[in-house]
Amino acid sequence: MDFSLTEEQKLIQRAARDFAQNELLPGVIERDEKQLFPKEEVRKMGELGFLGMMVNPKYGGSGLDTLSYVLVMEELSKVDASSSVIVSVNNSLVCWGLETFGTESQKEKYLKKLATGEIIGTFCLSEPEAGSDATSQKTTATDKGDHYLLNGTKNWITNGSSADVHLVIAQTDKDKKYRGINALIVEKGSEGFEIGPKENKLGIRGSDTHSLIFNDVKVPKENRIGKDGFGFKFAMKTLAGGRIGIASQALGIATGAYELALKYAQERKAFGTEISNHQAIAFKLADMHTQIQAARHLVYKSAWDKDMGNNYDLSGAMAKLYASQVAMETTIEAVQIHGGNGFVKDYHVERLMRDAKITQIYEGTSEIQKIVISRSILN
Ligand code: CAA
Repeated sequence: MDFSLTEEQKLIQRAARDFAQNELLPGVIERDEKQLFPKEEVRKMGELGFLGMMVNPKYGGSGLDTLSYVLVMEELSKVDASSSVIVSVNNSLVCWGLETFGTESQKEKYLKKLATGEIIGTFCLSEPEAGSDATSQKTTATDKGDHYLLNGTKNWITNGSSADVHLVIAQTDKDKKYRGINALIVEKGSEGFEIGPKENKLGIRGSDTHSLIFNDVKVPKENRIGKDGFGFKFAMKTLAGGRIGIASQALGIATGAYELALKYAQERKAFGTEISNHQAIAFKLADMHTQIQAARHLVYKSAWDKDMGNNYDLSGAMAKLYASQVAMETTIEAVQIHGGNGFVKDYHVERLMRDAKITQIYEGTSEIQKIVISRSILN
């Protein structure tokens, strides 16, 4: 076993750390408060190759491994989880899904622009009545010969109003249940396609979350991903990798909060000494450090599984389940260590605590991860 990073991985990690500190940190409190999408920051991340990290260079990507992607996600998330979710959705759901299952012409037309960050994409699975129960799609894609007619509403869509390309999951043949579901590429600006109001969220407030409404939107057949009826499998396979991205986001949020708490505990004095000298605080730091390291091993292992061509449904689900739990617990403790200062925005930990919560919900709740894990170990 070799736990060391390669020189290339260390360089990428350093580049992401520098970018997060120099470019994301300065405006992060304002973006969170005013719910501002990090447009300029996304443009720069595209230039750095962070938006198509695992995509083959022939389609404009960086051609890196999943572990490099995880390292970047971790560094960005330490500072700004609103920016890192944009990176995660674009990389692991949109680019990976298109590169793995798309046709050559879909890759030429869409992937090249997505991988360079010229445009960004969305992954539209959730609906008002289909969240965890993803097979219950109410959005319909009616087969009209050379095109589909798309009708329905998608909810909580990350990058909702900022994206140009949308991967939409919809039911074509109800009788076939999930085997009658398709995944379609829908372009922004298509007739009948409307962007609903922006969600006012607890956390990741800089990310742009909307409902999307489709009223008789014509989608050409050549925009279907995979064979007729492949849409649900497409969603499941894509989400399995997406969960590694969100696990690394959770890991980054936890690490960011821990590092702030560690520094604060070594500076802040109470009862005549730095608070880190009080065992009540030192033990909290010990627990945080241990749990984060355990989460890191699970996250890196799932990335390694993906890079090795192993099945990563189980390791990705375990990584997301545990890392998101550690993110929640660590950020709560980081606020506690900061005391009153933890409750105000300037110290960053309250934002990290609010941001942590979504990692237990999106791309499969913790309860869904337990379904995936338990089915895997019982079968
Ligand atoms: N890979 C390949 N195929 C898979 C699969 C996987 N990981 N998981 C399931 N499937 C296949 C099954 O094999 C089965 O097909 P066959 O019958 O041909 O074998 C089919 O899919 C149906 O599977 P299940 O019977 O297991 O389906 P289920 O109804 O019991 O659901 C579930 C399984 C795991 C609960 C699934 O519904 C699920 O993952 N739900 C959560 C959805 C989710 O993660 N939503 C997040 C929204 S996206 C988001 O948040 C993005 C964002 O913007 C940040």
